[in-house]
Amino acid sequence: MTEAKAGIGILGAGWVGLVTGACFADLGHDVVIRDVVPGKIDALRAGRVPIHEEGLPELLARNRDRLSFTLDAREVATNADLLFVCVGTPPTYSGDADLSAVWTVLDELPAETQATLVMKSTVPVGTGDKVRAALEARGLGHVAYVSNPEFLAEGSAIRDFMRPDRVVVGAFAEADGLALAALYDGLETEVVLTDVHSAEMIKLASNAFLATRISFINEIANVCEVTGADVEEVARGMGLDRRIGPHFLRAGIGYGGSCFPKDVSALKQLAGNSGYHFQLLNSVIEVNELQKRRVVGKLKKHLGHLAGKRIALLGLAYKAGTDDLREAASIVLAARLLAEGAEVTAWDPVASPRDELRGAALCATPLEAVTGADAAVIVTEWDELRDLAREDVRSAMRNPLLVDGRNLLDPLAVRAAGFAYEGVGRPTSPFSALPETEEPEPRVRG
Ligand code: UGA
Repeated sequence: MTEAKAGIGILGAGWVGLVTGACFADLGHDVVIRDVVPGKIDALRAGRVPIHEEGLPELLARNRDRLSFTLDAREVATNADLLFVCVGTPPTYSGDADLSAVWTVLDELPAETQATLVMKSTVPVGTGDKVRAALEARGLGHVAYVSNPEFLAEGSAIRDFMRPDRVVVGAFAEADGLALAALYDGLETEVVLTDVHSAEMIKLASNAFLATRISFINEIANVCEVTGADVEEVARGMGLDRRIGPHFLRAGIGYGGSCFPKDVSALKQLAGNSGYHFQLLNSVIEVNELQKRRVVGKLKKHLGHLAGKRIALLGLAYKAGTDDLREAASIVLAARLLAEGAEVTAWDPVASPRDELRGAALCATPLEAVTGADAAVIVTEWDELRDLAREDVRSAMRNPLLVDGRNLLDPLAVRAAGFAYEGVGRPTSPFSALPETEEPEPRVRG
């Protein structure tokens, strides 16, 4: 006899909700996904996926029989055993997390709700207490609450779900936590069963720590630029130390996306609101902001003033593998360059900006974007840009300058192909500066 699978309701058909719903369906559960946007639900019912995430269309299609989509909160809440809250918690002007979508979800729960409420959205520590109080106030005190933060990175979200480093489950009652943990039995991973406050903090602290690593390596890169070291070599050497590890040591243009900027600021605010000044996170944020702008300095170093210069931004998404433009460096850069009087062309293989890059000319190919340009800036590490140092690109540009915000290209090869090159933390290598043909002077013994 096969064990009956839990019925799962997903509240919110964004990145987290869709990936979570599709993956649970793939594990054999019946899943109902609910959203408030009719166009999104219509698209999903028609088999169209509103976001760019590798493998997601196939996963949704493969599990069509176990998945349904609805606008009706009541339908989901009364049929599911587990209700996953996957709504957005964007930053407010003060940097705190905006929980209004979470409260709306709670308001919509019907009195008959029996399901356990599971918080996937990233929320401040203490949210579980507030949700429990709100449930009680609404006569829903019997609804169990579990914190189960998501650790899905865009572009690798399905793999992150199916092969997680860990699953974190925070519960008020151990039995509720164990019941939820059982859902992940098939995934062969460690489940961290803990209290709700700690689960909420594990999520915020993990993102803030990763952001700190990025700001740290970016500052190392900046020091490399003035001291002659190569940050790629430095990161390789550091990463082999098991206590450090190789991940999240890629220097670049600063972190973006809907998570790190929001969560670092939310943790800083959370600490501040509780009377603790989180000094380190202030620097993490400041370094990240400055890192995006350093590109402008590099352009000026080569081009002088930027008024009337044409600059091509190659890659617009905040990282490769996604069409997400939230907190992308491209937006800050385009605005800065336009303010300096530059002309901006832009290309991305999947992201299609609307208002975010107002004033920039969108191009269909990298070659079109660089044609007549005084410089090209690699903003996103798309594979399509790996062979950018080509002759057709060089001859199409008015001035062959490549500013590589992701250290995607090999500086020596790019320079050998006739381009001027600026990476991040990669000054002209001392090896490349050596004369290639000259024999060393014979040493005269005195
Ligand atoms: C991040 C976390 O990695 C996920 O674990 C988490 O679940 C998610 O936030 C979330 O809270 O929902 P994501 O923002 O999708 O995921 O992407 P990452 O791959 O972590 O990259 C974030 C930013 O850091 C990108 O702009 C990326 O280009 C940048 N980055 C990353 C670097 O500049 N250097 C690195 O070495 C790594």
